[in-house]
Amino acid sequence: MAKDRIVAGQKQEADPEQTGSALRPRMLVDYIGQARLKERLSIALQAVRGRGEPMEHVLLHGPPGLGKTTLAHVIAGEMGTHAFVTSGPALTKAGDLVGLLTKLEARDVLFIDEIHRLPPAVEEYIYPAMEDCQIDFTVDSGMHAKTVTIGLQPFTLIGATTRPGMLTHALRTRFGLSHHISFYPESEIELILQRAAGLMGVIKIKSDSLAALASRSRGTPRVALRLLRRVRDFAAVRADGQFGPGVIADAMELEGVDSLGLDELDRSYLRVIATTYGGGPVGLEAIAATLGEDGGTLEDVVEPYLLQVGFLARTRQGRCLTQAAAEHVGLPWREPQQPSEALFG
Ligand code: ADE
Repeated sequence: MAKDRIVAGQKQEADPEQTGSALRPRMLVDYIGQARLKERLSIALQAVRGRGEPMEHVLLHGPPGLGKTTLAHVIAGEMGTHAFVTSGPALTKAGDLVGLLTKLEARDVLFIDEIHRLPPAVEEYIYPAMEDCQIDFTVDSGMHAKTVTIGLQPFTLIGATTRPGMLTHALRTRFGLSHHISFYPESEIELILQRAAGLMGVIKIKSDSLAALASRSRGTPRVALRLLRRVRDFAAVRADGQFGPGVIADAMELEGVDSLGLDELDRSYLRVIATTYGGGPVGLEAIAATLGEDGGTLEDVVEPYLLQVGFLARTRQGRCLTQAAAEHVGLPWREPQQPSEALFG
């Protein structure tokens, strides 16, 4: 499955962060990178703490694996409260949301991942909860119907989404703070790896080793930490715990992850455009059919990183391979046959 790839930004069951990891930063000072977001949060947090208010509702958007859940825990840590984590698809009926909201204590954080997938019937209940700390519940129906209002403790909603465009206007405008989280530069991924390696007790690290891992992490902390765990195991079993560039290269080769963090699915995707479709332009569905994968999955889990590293051009006529991509996978390259906006302006 495309989503089980070691380089996937999406959460996986086996990621220890899913069970509340000791590696997760608890306070803003421990959170590496995203300097502007941290500054915005730090100002808002100091201001609301000074006034004795709950933190404003925050909407975080951007690719998966960049630390949106972690930030919810950090915000709760800074407020001295707890974070409760759920997701849009998990809240199938209004009662699921009401159950969560009523157990929150003052200034607690409710984190809703994939908030764009919240069913409309549930979303309706969120508006008065966010605005007036109350939920209006209708009991009975027809002429006996009556509205019961339940009061809530003041709380902070952190919504996370990879698709901010899919949020309703009504929901989007109820967040006091909205911020896009982008991929991390390699230097920051290296710092995240250093911190994690220290906490994991990986002591035999040679200098520069973590840079070799950072460059394969696709700018994504979740991927970086997953690769670190694989290399730690490899080093323990095959290299007496030694953790140098050679060991990293061997471990990554075994995992099928190349020097830029591309895996076999990425390379197959690029090869299909290069060989089956002459470098493009080609439609997503044609690529998906050739690979035997779902088009939506390719769009969500393969294309974002290839676009980010400049290996793929998306034009109105279809997807095109870039020269850099052809060189990386060792295939010949020629100019796409039809004029396309991305290449010819
Ligand atoms: N773990 C995951 N993301 C992190 C970040 N941005 N800083 C520190 N540790 C992290």
